[in-house]
Amino acid sequence: MQTITRLDPLRSALEPLRRDGPIALVPTMGALHEGHLTLVREAKARAAHVVASIFVNPRQFGANEDLDAYPRQLARDQALLETEGVSLLWAPEAAAMYPLGYATNISVSGVSDGLCGAARPGHFDGVATVVCKLFNQVQPDLALFGEKDWQQLAVIRAMARDLDLTRPHVDAILGVPTVREADGLAMSSRNAYLSSEQRAQAASLPQAMKAAIWAMNRGEPVGDALRELEEILLAGGFDKIDYAEVRDPALLTLVEDPVHQAARLFVAARIGGTRLIDNMAISPL
Ligand code: PAF
Repeated sequence: MQTITRLDPLRSALEPLRRDGPIALVPTMGALHEGHLTLVREAKARAAHVVASIFVNPRQFGANEDLDAYPRQLARDQALLETEGVSLLWAPEAAAMYPLGYATNISVSGVSDGLCGAARPGHFDGVATVVCKLFNQVQPDLALFGEKDWQQLAVIRAMARDLDLTRPHVDAILGVPTVREADGLAMSSRNAYLSSEQRAQAASLPQAMKAAIWAMNRGEPVGDALRELEEILLAGGFDKIDYAEVRDPALLTLVEDPVHQAARLFVAARIGGTRLIDNMAISPL
């Protein structure tokens, strides 16, 4: 596996790979876990070559967020990607991604307005901007993202559709189901911030979500089920709920009747200084 940090060598290295067949891109911010490796395996099954990227994108972190603390472990990540058979790792320096004078921002409205978009102003502009750049740099046939960041996936799909970045085939941007720990907690690089006590408490997030989904499917009003969910999380050790909402899976508009409408439950909650997010299907209609 080659690791490349500058744009010109990237373009030259991609040329021979492209001659072998489709290229799949797996964009990441590193600190890789089984969720990322699942993306790589799915990518390998669909393409001749997998290109992974590692870039801790400063533009998607707010002023008081964890940019400096975000785990960086390039050597370990390189070894993992090499073992998975990744052909090329694109690991640009910040100056290669945003050179002096960089002035362009991509903003997607609609799907980015609520949920994490409301809780983290500017976050999805940063995501859309860097993913657009990654798509232009690598020009993949296929790109894969985890469904744990469901809203991010919706934003990226909207951005790629609106800016004509994908060819007209449905598989161009693929969402891959969330990979979970044995106790149900969604895998995330940020789980590493949790103390062992917080890690045990964090398991109440998927459990409370499943209980709320069960209640809603039995006819409990959305508002009641969400109130109970928040109470369980606060009693279970969470300090603050950023949001707990039921929304349409594609449009991300609020849903009142999740039994008769396609719906997904979205939660973001804080435990100590760590913000965890998760989402689950309520009704697959
Ligand atoms: O999900 C992530 O790791 C990041 O948001 C992404 C898509 C790599 C963009 O920086």
